[in-house]
Amino acid sequence: MKRILVTGGAGYIGSKLVTKLLDLNFKVTVLDSLKYTSSSINHLFNNKNFYFYKGDVRDKKLLKKLVNKNEYIIPLAGLVGAPLCEKNKKEATAVNLNSIKYLTKIIKKKNKLIYLTTNSGYGVGSKTKYCDEQTSLNPISLYGRTKVEAEKAVMKKNNVIAFRLATVFGYSYRMRTDLLVNNFVYKSIKDKKLTLYEPHFRRNYIHINDVVEAIVYSISNFAHLKSNVYNLGLSSANLTKLMLVKKIKKKLKYLKVKIIKNKKDPDQRDYFVSNKKIEKKGFKAKTSLEQGIDELIKVFNNSSEKVINNY
Ligand SMILES: NC(=O)c1ccc[n+]([C@@H]2O[C@H](COP(=O)([O-])OP(=O)(O)OC[C@H]3O[C@@H](n4cnc5c(N)ncnc54)[C@H](O)[C@@H]3O)[C@@H](O)[C@H]2O)c1
Repeated sequence: MKRILVTGGAGYIGSKLVTKLLDLNFKVTVLDSLKYTSSSINHLFNNKNFYFYKGDVRDKKLLKKLVNKNEYIIPLAGLVGAPLCEKNKKEATAVNLNSIKYLTKIIKKKNKLIYLTTNSGYGVGSKTKYCDEQTSLNPISLYGRTKVEAEKAVMKKNNVIAFRLATVFGYSYRMRTDLLVNNFVYKSIKDKKLTLYEPHFRRNYIHINDVVEAIVYSISNFAHLKSNVYNLGLSSANLTKLMLVKKIKKKLKYLKVKIIKNKKDPDQRDYFVSNKKIEKKGFKAKTSLEQGIDELIKVFNNSSEKVINNY
């Protein structure tokens, strides 16, 4: 039976991933400081293959002990997103970068590492070409820089697969409403209006279930994929912000959209991304933006919970 360590396993991606890995009968250990919530993993505690450690990835002794006990290591713990990292610079560098560098020192031959980074490292892309894995990285935030440096560190090792993720969307047990699609649908429902800056800015998107499926695929096909970095996004979802908003408005007819010209979006990311490399290796993201928007509309329409803005 495969033993997998997921740090940050109570987070947005982690809680969905760990649920799936347990469904597939893997033995899963989560190390998470529960910075935001513990309710995202409560449904897992009656599973005999689930082991939970409330702790910090900066605790070297604990991390080493858990790495030794597991074959696959999926380090998701981190301060995620540019604004959060700007607010907590030291912690962001310590958790996102230094703890990953330490991990590369302590992993053994038997260990297999799957690392998730962001495609926001592409910064501002060419107007005519899609960014592929050869495109130079030019991160414009501390978050982006810590992730790019950490990716460089892990890729020096042999048994590693790295995914550069598109902007993730969809529901998770720990919900994030700062991610662009989630955020637009959330605001559209709560405020019935959206204000849009620089509507022509382009992005690539991917549903959270496809991220989870890609990780499961990479566990089953590790030798076939290893020692490589892959963009991971939904190829049919390379869209401008305006195109995304039009898709939301199609489902929420009452939505009023105000486009502000001559004002800069603090987030200057603007690029299209090619996902051909991973698709050639046999994995293709499937969940459409429409499906994700439908899901999010139902979640936010029915939710009486207050979404905590902890990012
Ligand atoms: N969500 C995305 O769109 C996206 C895109 C690209 C890459 N990623 C990467 O995926 C990973 C997970 O992102 P997410 O969206 O699930 O974020 P998240 O904020 O929901 O989850 C992060 C988890 O890490 C935990 N954590 C934070 N600091 C810790 C520490 N010092 N020790 C132990 N646990 C700690 C938090 O409690 C939280 O549960 C991150 O590495 C992120 O960079 C996410």
